Amino acid sequence: MSKLSLDRILQSQGYGTRKFCRTLIEDGEVTINGVVHDNYKETLETDGLVFRLFEEDVQYREHVYIALNKPANYECSRKPSHHPGVLTLLAEELTWRDVQPVGRLDHDTTGMLLMSDDGAFIHAQSSPKRHVPKIYQATTAEPVTDELIEKMLAGVQLHDEPAPLAAVTCLKRGEHQLEIVLEQGKYHQVKRMLAAAGNHCAALHRSAIGKLELAALDLNEGEWCYLTPEQLALLSPE
Ligand code: URA
Repeated sequence: MSKLSLDRILQSQGYGTRKFCRTLIEDGEVTINGVVHDNYKETLETDGLVFRLFEEDVQYREHVYIALNKPANYECSRKPSHHPGVLTLLAEELTWRDVQPVGRLDHDTTGMLLMSDDGAFIHAQSSPKRHVPKIYQATTAEPVTDELIEKMLAGVQLHDEPAPLAAVTCLKRGEHQLEIVLEQGKYHQVKRMLAAAGNHCAALHRSAIGKLELAALDLNEGEWCYLTPEQLALLSPE
């Protein structure tokens, strides 16, 4: 349980500077259960708090945990250079909350991207010690062969890695389709592993992280949702 003043509540939820939030409150823009709350010093219990602002009900969230169905031609970098950044796909208040991608997908990779403003969560999910499986659907330039799969499973040596990297599983899903499960998240890892194994990645899609499947979230490309505690639990390694 924690109590905060109304101006701090609005600011923490990404509605701008404290000064701006105070103005919104004093202008009578914030209602709770249909009642205007125009005293910014009023303290409220944040647990379970829902307030109404700009004709929308806003549930107070100490942190946000988001899954985005990333389209191609968006960059995960904080300072995108050639394409728009993934943050532009989120609601404006989320960018004020300092939401960041958890790891990165290449600009041309599509699929599940987690985002959060919880530093401990971002750190834990990105930690190489955690071994959270990431499931990729890769389209290959050349046909998939048994030899390619054997190499991906045995491990391939990448230039700047001290030891060979291997896929946890690698399944043929079509003439040019592979499902690849990785536990690491090295730079361009799938593409570099496929190239080192003698093929080439023509397209890449991340379909799941841990047991959380993108398909179950029912998001069109470019859409995002908040993750529930039950969905977050599916991200834990076994
Ligand atoms: N591996 C890649 O090569 N690219 C990605 O975006 C993710 C994994």
